[in-house]
Amino acid sequence: MMQRGRATAAARACWPAALLTACLLLRPCGCKTANALKPNILLIMADDLGIGDLGCYGNRTLRTPHIDRLAEEGVRLTQHLAAAPLCTPSRAAFLTGRHAFRSGMDASDGYRALQWNGGSGGLPQNETTFARILQQEGYATGLIGKWHQGVNCATRGDHCHHPLRHGFDDFYGMPFTLVNDCQPGRPPEVDAALRARLGQYTQWAAWGVLTAAAGRACGLLSVPRRAVLGAAGLLLLFFASWFASFGFVRRWNCVLMRNHEVTEQPMRLETATGLLLEEAVSYVERNKHRPFLLFVSLLHVHIPLVSTGAFAGRSRHGPYGDNVEEMDWLVGQLLHALEERGLKNKTFTYFTSDHGGHLEARDEALGQLGGWNGIYRGGKGMAGWEGGIRVPGIFRWPGVLPAGRVVSEPTSLMDVFPTVVQLGGGEVPRDRCVR
Ligand SMILES: *[C@@H]1O[C@H](CO)[C@@H](O)[C@H](O)[C@H]1NC(C)=O
Ligand SMILES: *[C@@H]1O[C@H](CO)[C@@H](O)[C@H](O)[C@H]1NC(C)=O
Ligand SMILES: *[C@@H]1O[C@H](CO)[C@@H](O)[C@H](O)[C@H]1NC(C)=O
Repeated sequence: MMQRGRATAAARACWPAALLTACLLLRPCGCKTANALKPNILLIMADDLGIGDLGCYGNRTLRTPHIDRLAEEGVRLTQHLAAAPLCTPSRAAFLTGRHAFRSGMDASDGYRALQWNGGSGGLPQNETTFARILQQEGYATGLIGKWHQGVNCATRGDHCHHPLRHGFDDFYGMPFTLVNDCQPGRPPEVDAALRARLGQYTQWAAWGVLTAAAGRACGLLSVPRRAVLGAAGLLLLFFASWFASFGFVRRWNCVLMRNHEVTEQPMRLETATGLLLEEAVSYVERNKHRPFLLFVSLLHVHIPLVSTGAFAGRSRHGPYGDNVEEMDWLVGQLLHALEERGLKNKTFTYFTSDHGGHLEARDEALGQLGGWNGIYRGGKGMAGWEGGIRVPGIFRWPGVLPAGRVVSEPTSLMDVFPTVVQLGGGEVPRDRCVR
């Protein structure tokens, strides 16, 4: 009883605050509730993009005209915060409107982000995403791009954490995330420290066995033959299990899926951008006559930064800048897909990044490979420092939201949950702690 009372009180105390964004934004025009009901919802999230990378947030050398136009036609938030400075927890919080520690999607060790498609972790089934609520409200709900909230619980193929189990009717994209390992020849990223350490141990052990064998052969050491053979056998076994774990990272992690089917394994990075765009445009076309929620979770601008022909080498900021400019073009194409079908005014469009830029992503030869967080200190993975959590936040809904407004009230990516739930006519869950 006590517990319940507290939770309800907390819910009462928090949801109004969480609805801040909606109210703040809607009030200036007066809530046109009648025609504002059930707009389409297009949520675009970049991966690892820094707030300092966009023209509309003060960058003068990177060209992001499409995102800048989105801001001119809508509302730009200057104090928009991610719930965590890393993909998995930030996205879990975004999807559920609750801090990731509530759903078990945050941790304090080195494994704050899921590292493997094959692992058993993921967003628990009893968590409610905004997609599930909007699905119940009659929306078509699609996820295109990155998920990174787990796939299976107990067996390969139970798909208990899959997007289709979390309220999306359509999924096309990566169940995991882009990582360096997805491109042959790049330094490893998944479990890189563990891999390096185990690799080192294997080398030392191999030298040990070789020395013992050589010493024995030359008669310098009197170790029993069986001991040397046994040690060599153990070493071989160890190496085999190391290789089985880490020799196929690309194959296990870098895959594209359509709903429950794997469509490319390993995936080709060069064609992924085109495929995702084609899918998004086709999604808008297929659903143009009914309210839809489309979450385009971009693979850009995470390393390994594979930009297609027109963008490679085009920017002033190396492969990273090229990738940001390509992402901006992609956003422009998505906006065009709406506008071409007369859906611009009927669509509540949002652009953000899951957290700040990845400052340590640098290379001797290539230079900057991660985002720029402007005047804010710190970046991806650095909790407590603002550069890791302060992200771009842009909303556009012509006719309802004022154009060109800048809002500097503190807002959170978690505010999107109650906002879109309310716009879709749904209700936020009342049976749990919020925030
Ligand atoms: C613009 O973005 C690039 C790429 O992240 C960065 O190197 C540069 O410092 C930024 N410029 C400004 C003025 O913020
Ligand atoms: C989901 O289930 C777990 C395990 O039973 C529980 O601890 C958690 O509170 C539940 N979450 C919700 C939102 O009901
Ligand atoms: C869309 O909204 C804008 C801004 O209010 C308005 O000028 C325009 O006429 C609207 N377009 C349509 C097709 O309703």
